[in-house]
Amino acid sequence: MKQTLRFILSLATFWAMTAAQSQDFSGYSGGVLPDNNGVHVNAHGGGILYQKGIYYWFGEHKGEGEVGNRSFDGVHCYSSKNLKDWKDEGIALTMSKDPKSLLIEGCILERPKVIYNEKTGKYVMWFHHELKDKGYSAALTGLAVSDKATGPYKYIHSIRPNAGVWPVGFPNKLKKKAIAEPAKKRSPEWVKWVEQGGFLRRDFEGGQMSRDMTLFIDVDGTAYHIASAEENQTIHISALSEDYLSFTGKYKRVLPAGRNEGPAIFLKNGKYYMISSGLTGWKPNPARAAVADKLMGDWTPLGNPCIGTAEEISTTFQSQSTFVIDVEGKEEQYIFMADRWRPENAIDGGYVWVEIEFDQKDKPILKWENIWQ
Ligand code: GAL
Repeated sequence: MKQTLRFILSLATFWAMTAAQSQDFSGYSGGVLPDNNGVHVNAHGGGILYQKGIYYWFGEHKGEGEVGNRSFDGVHCYSSKNLKDWKDEGIALTMSKDPKSLLIEGCILERPKVIYNEKTGKYVMWFHHELKDKGYSAALTGLAVSDKATGPYKYIHSIRPNAGVWPVGFPNKLKKKAIAEPAKKRSPEWVKWVEQGGFLRRDFEGGQMSRDMTLFIDVDGTAYHIASAEENQTIHISALSEDYLSFTGKYKRVLPAGRNEGPAIFLKNGKYYMISSGLTGWKPNPARAAVADKLMGDWTPLGNPCIGTAEEISTTFQSQSTFVIDVEGKEEQYIFMADRWRPENAIDGGYVWVEIEFDQKDKPILKWENIWQ
């Protein structure tokens, strides 16, 4: 009798533990991710800053309905000591009510990222910024600065970077005015035109387009701004100044005409990896991975990092990449962070976090069974 009771009790404990666990972590497989107030985390297209035992998550605060894709609140910040429980730290960068400010509420602010500058003691935020009622035509990168990780961040300005400078390694013979864009988009002739810097040359004087973006600090402390440029056809990796507040003019075109968005960068064993998504708006698409020996070196495509069902592979588990967390204190533990967008009710967007596995050739692999635990 006693034994049966003990068996039932242990079964009940096991069930309770499993239930609690799946409940706790479902927020990392696209479900509701409750913060310390029980409210779904609202930090989309986000990234993580780690400092002194605390992870800070910055992302787009989205609203209800389709209009919720535009920015009326700003950049939301959460903090965590364990990458599981998130404390709401409020809005770190607030949208302006002043019609003269470019950061006026109702404009588009996407994919904000924050880095800390050891020399100046400042927290530096860059983000993709589109002007109010101008769709996605401005393609600017915005800058905001704070003395505290959680903010408030002060908006400085928004720019088209690298105006009047050619990228590293760009052939001399192509350093001239752009010729007209071939009429048929995506035709072989058009792709060649893009590869040869058609858009780059068009935007040379006014500055390069900058949309989906991330930031990365290299081992020597140099910070890099990595963004979709050239009408989203080519990634630009740009070195920032020592204070991280401006562009140095040193930049590299990565995978020209490769059509990459949502770039996420990490460093493992001296190699730089990028996981990105394709160009399908809010809809998911197959992810891509690439590797390089140097950030400004040559990047080699590694193909789709997802392994699983045909549906998982073709949709990246119904998500788009945004960041890779290099877990502090854990050797070679990396978490792929992605967004499951809900454009029709933006606030419902979910998060997909997958612990990255590496195959024998060191190619990053994403599998649903490695959802962050
Ligand atoms: C996606 C991009 C998002 C957002 C969206 C708008 O391709 O990754 O950040 O810009 O397009 O349609």
